[in-house]
Amino acid sequence: MALVRWGLRRQNFHPLRKRRRALLLKLTVVIISVLLFCEYFIYYLVLFRCHWPEVKTLAHGGGQEPVLKAMFLADTHLLGEIRGHWLDKLRREWQMERAFQTALWLLQPEVVFILGDIFDEGKWSSDQAWADDVQRFQRMFRHDSHVQLKVVIGNHDVGFHYQMTKYRIKRFEKVFGSERLLSLKGVNFVMVNSVAMEGDGCIICSEEEAELREISRKLNCSQEQVPGSSQCDREPEPRLPLSAPVLLQHYPLYRASDANCSGEDAAPPEERNVPFEEKYDVLSREASQKLLWWLRPRLVLSGHTHSACEVFHPGGAPEVSVPSFSWRNRNNPSFIMPDIQRLRSVQVLPPV
Ligand SMILES: *[C@@H]1O[C@H](CO)[C@@H](O)[C@H](O)[C@H]1NC(C)=O
Ligand SMILES: *[C@@H]1O[C@H](CO)[C@@H](O)[C@H](O)[C@H]1NC(C)=O
Repeated sequence: MALVRWGLRRQNFHPLRKRRRALLLKLTVVIISVLLFCEYFIYYLVLFRCHWPEVKTLAHGGGQEPVLKAMFLADTHLLGEIRGHWLDKLRREWQMERAFQTALWLLQPEVVFILGDIFDEGKWSSDQAWADDVQRFQRMFRHDSHVQLKVVIGNHDVGFHYQMTKYRIKRFEKVFGSERLLSLKGVNFVMVNSVAMEGDGCIICSEEEAELREISRKLNCSQEQVPGSSQCDREPEPRLPLSAPVLLQHYPLYRASDANCSGEDAAPPEERNVPFEEKYDVLSREASQKLLWWLRPRLVLSGHTHSACEVFHPGGAPEVSVPSFSWRNRNNPSFIMPDIQRLRSVQVLPPV
């Protein structure tokens, strides 16, 4: 009898347990699929819609030129040990790592520039915390050796002008290099430490300005039609490609506010009219004028504001502010893939 009852109970309960187990299994599968989709595949789906600009044959010069696939992003703000909560850190870093790695895989850039504020706490971090942040950066932004990754100094990496020390700059340059001028496929890039453009004659500032003047001289020499005249004679190295440079820096050149910025990546309307403070939100007018005079860029790319904007400076040089790459700073982070070769044909006049 007991055996029969046991058998009955077994018959009654078994399907129920089975159903529950199946439900649990289904739920697990759904959760895993959703996680996989939202945390992994979505990046492919979204970035799949991005394409490099079509490169048309240039009107002047005739021949086809090699295209440079250059990607620009800004303000990754890897959280540090003091202000960063571990969960926030984990989440943001996973998002940025996936976005970056997916972009590398799908878009195959040759060079990636990050326009400053790589770290959030480089301005005060201890050497131990710095080493830890650098290690995480290198893991997130790992890339094949044929892809170049270039980084511009931002105020969170070394501190605002009055916090910036030689030591912090050296620490930064030891990891990311101290290169200011780079020529790739006929495009000259000038990477400026804009935190040192204060114009107060501080040692770091004077050194930065001296270096930029030297770059300006080299660029001018490349434009000299008849060699054999001035100071360009004693140029030992090969001359730079003849083309106006792309100026890369963390602070934007001076603009009064973001009032004229539009588009989905621009600052929210209520923030656009807030006036910018010189030497804090944007470079001073004087420093901006200097950079435009010295370098006569065909294009300026900057970060710092965390929002996108396109402005035209006196003389016609366009500037694009690149929005932040971190979801912590905005809900729609992005990067840009400009058609640098085409911009060359834009005649950039000296500022008036
Ligand atoms: C290069 O030429 C520009 C425009 O003529 C000028 O403003 C700049 O000072 C020159 N640079 C140097 C180092 O002489
Ligand atoms: C916006 O554009 C107008 C017209 O070009 C200009 O007069 C004004 O100064 C600009 N505002 C800012 C904040 O740049």
